[in-house]
Amino acid sequence: MLNLSLKSLLIVILCASLRAQFRDDSISLPPVDPLTLDTIHIMKGGDSPLNIDFTLTNNKLYGLSKSIVTSVHGFGKDMTQKKSLAVKVPGAISLIGDYTVSGKVLILPIQGKGKSNITFVDSEFRVDFTGAPEERDGNIYMKLENFHWYANPKSIIFDLQNLFNGDKALGDNMNKFLNENWKEIYTEIEDSLDEQFGVVFGKIVHEDLAKYPYAQYFNE
Ligand SMILES: *[C@@H]1O[C@H](CO)[C@@H](O)[C@H](O)[C@H]1NC(C)=O
Repeated sequence: MLNLSLKSLLIVILCASLRAQFRDDSISLPPVDPLTLDTIHIMKGGDSPLNIDFTLTNNKLYGLSKSIVTSVHGFGKDMTQKKSLAVKVPGAISLIGDYTVSGKVLILPIQGKGKSNITFVDSEFRVDFTGAPEERDGNIYMKLENFHWYANPKSIIFDLQNLFNGDKALGDNMNKFLNENWKEIYTEIEDSLDEQFGVVFGKIVHEDLAKYPYAQYFNE
């Protein structure tokens, strides 16, 4: 059986719904909107049409509280069962902070350092993971394993400020080019994002799950 407190915990932490019916005040949760992220580093090379070294620092993700849960699977007492949570976020979900980039996008050289706003429009997200028991002080906690993150946006809007040492014309053109080619770019960085977000979200969920023994989330 699904239990509301476990469900609420995971749903909230996993950037899902903040809808009132899933709230459970007995467990304190970190705020998820905005969600502070660790450094995200994307490095592509070799045969990829993208040849970039792209780093996002001090980034926050805005908009998660608009999430609507579309499906929840596997959140039962058996922590090792694969868990899957899908949400959609109508409108914008924005990754805002600092960036540095250098390399080549498709055919064009890119270089810059400044403020960035990367916005996912009308997205569907899914996270999958399994749990593994971890014993501490005679209690069983859940450790996250196999964490994956998938996103399916309708479009992505890039706004990288101060590209090419602040050359406005070059910068505007590059942002336009990135926006026009968002799909191709996203396809190339999807795996890295999954990996990076997996680590970031995994850590957040893990820290919170480490607060209470797993059974406590059932709170019967
Ligand atoms: C980020 O970009 C989106 C899409 O262009 C925009 O709607 C939003 O206002 C921007 N956010 C900030 C803080 O600039």
